[in-house]
Amino acid sequence: MSIDVRREGRVALLTVNRPEVLNALSTEILEELHSEILDLSRDASVGAIVLTGAGDRAFIAGADIAELATKTPLEARAYGELGQDVAHRLETMRKPTIAAVNGYALGGGCEMALACDIRLCSENAVFGQPEVNLGIMPGWGGTQRLARTTSLGFAKEVILTGRMVPAQEAFDRGLVQAVCPQDELVPKALAMAAEIASKSPVAVSYAKEATNRALHGDLGANFVHEVDLFAILFSTEDAKEGLQAFTEKRSARFIGK
Ligand code: COA
Repeated sequence: MSIDVRREGRVALLTVNRPEVLNALSTEILEELHSEILDLSRDASVGAIVLTGAGDRAFIAGADIAELATKTPLEARAYGELGQDVAHRLETMRKPTIAAVNGYALGGGCEMALACDIRLCSENAVFGQPEVNLGIMPGWGGTQRLARTTSLGFAKEVILTGRMVPAQEAFDRGLVQAVCPQDELVPKALAMAAEIASKSPVAVSYAKEATNRALHGDLGANFVHEVDLFAILFSTEDAKEGLQAFTEKRSARFIGK
């Protein structure tokens, strides 16, 4: 098994564990990651997920280049679709996801980080979409998510040159929300995940769903969608409890209903 799953209360820590190749994602590992994410998405006892890489050098150094070198166009398409499916699931699953980027996040690694809701990184983190250096291009959503997360011009510059983006620049560009010393990274991500997981899971998932639409579709339709979800939350026991707890000056006890 190359994906380690550790539980800390309502938080799941997913670690890609293949440090000898800087946690590069082969088809086998990608399928394993897909299935672990699916299991966690169905587990009501999980409130938030942190994704990281084993070792102190890499988050994920991308797709497995040795495997890529053997692919026919149809096989490359299937591999690309699998990577896109994993990224899509991270982005759209009901539970919030935090990437704890502890080193290289290149190619598919950058794309997996971009698919998470929040990105934190260590000072030695390096982001990039270096596929053009290999005569190929991003295929797991990077052309879209990097542009939507930062800016079109920055995304094009990074993707077309294939250059590396150090942690501080990633922060300055809005690619990550915080940079911290490596030994503080996973604890910080777990603490943030625990904070989110302490809220009402229904409210958190609806808030994620509405915010996901911010850069897509029609603004008017998105406002309607937002207010519909806002209204639906008033049917939950969690909303009654949260509003009542505030007036009673006590902590709310959410149950996810
Ligand atoms: N796929 C397969 N193997 C990879 C890999 C990847 N994406 N990234 C790194 N590795 C392997 C290397 O082949 C090497 O294996 P070896 O020890 O058997 O030779 C090992 O991981 C360590 O990497 P190495 O290149 O020796 O480390 P480095 O410190 O000199 O360079 C990087 C680090 C990240 C700059 C370099 O490994 C790199 O450019 N990797 C590819 C990144 C990339 O293009 N990703 C997008 C793929 S589409």
